Amino acid sequence: MGGVAHHLLLPHPARLKPLRPRAAVARRGALCCSLSTDAAPAMTVSITGATGFVGRRLVQKLLSDDHKVCVLTRSASKATSVFPASTCPGVTIAEQGDWEKCIKGSTAVVNLAGMPISTRWSPEIKREIKESRINVTSKVVNYINSASASARPSVFVSATAIGYYGTSEIRSFDESSPSGNDYLAEVCREWEARACQVNQEDVRLVLLRIGVVLGKDGGALAKMIPLFMMFAGGPLGTGQQWFSWIHLDDLVDLIYESLKNPTYQGVINGTAPNPVRMSEMCERLGRVVGRPSWLPVPELALKAVLGEGASVVLEGQKVLPAKAKQLGFSYRYPYVQDALRAIARDL
Ligand SMILES: NC(=O)c1ccc[n+]([C@@H]2O[C@H](COP(=O)([O-])OP(=O)(O)OC[C@H]3O[C@@H](n4cnc5c(N)ncnc54)[C@H](OP(=O)(O)O)[C@@H]3O)[C@@H](O)[C@H]2O)c1
Repeated sequence: MGGVAHHLLLPHPARLKPLRPRAAVARRGALCCSLSTDAAPAMTVSITGATGFVGRRLVQKLLSDDHKVCVLTRSASKATSVFPASTCPGVTIAEQGDWEKCIKGSTAVVNLAGMPISTRWSPEIKREIKESRINVTSKVVNYINSASASARPSVFVSATAIGYYGTSEIRSFDESSPSGNDYLAEVCREWEARACQVNQEDVRLVLLRIGVVLGKDGGALAKMIPLFMMFAGGPLGTGQQWFSWIHLDDLVDLIYESLKNPTYQGVINGTAPNPVRMSEMCERLGRVVGRPSWLPVPELALKAVLGEGASVVLEGQKVLPAKAKQLGFSYRYPYVQDALRAIARDL
């Protein structure tokens, strides 16, 4: 990507505009505390990527609080098997032709769609990793922007990733840090730039830069545990790389809070407050799954299994959630040992 185009796509802070106070107050009332009350009015939330690892848990939480959900999916049959009508009566399932209608009747939109990144990367797959995010985000933003005032969702929560910052063994990053210069940083910049095209005069935008999500049913742990078991449980790579993680329940709470609370706006890092180095992560994981941490899993072996996608576990970044802290967000799992123990209890 050329320098000029690249620059134009950067989500410059000026493009994250504050909501007009009148719109904010009219929609949500004058909340000024850092955490919203649970008495928020019922919402209808349209969600892309709802059938995925994070989306499934988010849908569960919204339904349990009596909100309604529109699952925006590429495949209604897949979504129906994830959310059967018998157990999920509050869910409407929409394939792409019906996304616009759903978005235009929703109070909020959450954008979680994207092709998984921890696979072998070929040029074709790299293109799809990027385009899957950009295309879905553009489509959703166009539907929000073309809605009439009475049908327009008031909040748009769009996922991005801590890959935005690039990687480093020594620096730490918060929301004010600049973007990195590797492939994943470029993907995140373009993904965020598309989300920033939502009409921020009328719609509150939250960009969640998500860290490595820990949960029992998917994400990094589902990939790491088998690798880890295969190599007798040593650190992946040198072990010195940073691992900025978040427990799935905390991430879902952060999304939920972003939907309800008008003080949540702009870029928010979705990471726990205590990132660890990979060696510590693996040692703690070893204790939890009953494998002693032994020899490091060699980089070559990881690359043989994951190809270039191994960079996701071989190189990391230390990302701190300065904004969530400032907003008073309360983590259920601030420390990785507690997060892993809770997950292992459920295995
Ligand atoms: N999990 C993590 O550790 C982590 C870390 C950082 C950022 N994130 C980001 O957070 C979001 C949610 O993560 P997740 O782990 O829940 O993802 P996931 O389980 O991989 O699910 C993502 C969803 O995206 C849709 N999708 C998959 N491939 C697609 C493609 N080629 N084109 C369009 N849509 C596609 C699918 O929904 P349908 O089949 O229903 O359309 C899928 O259920 C993702 O964008 C991810 O990049 C996740």
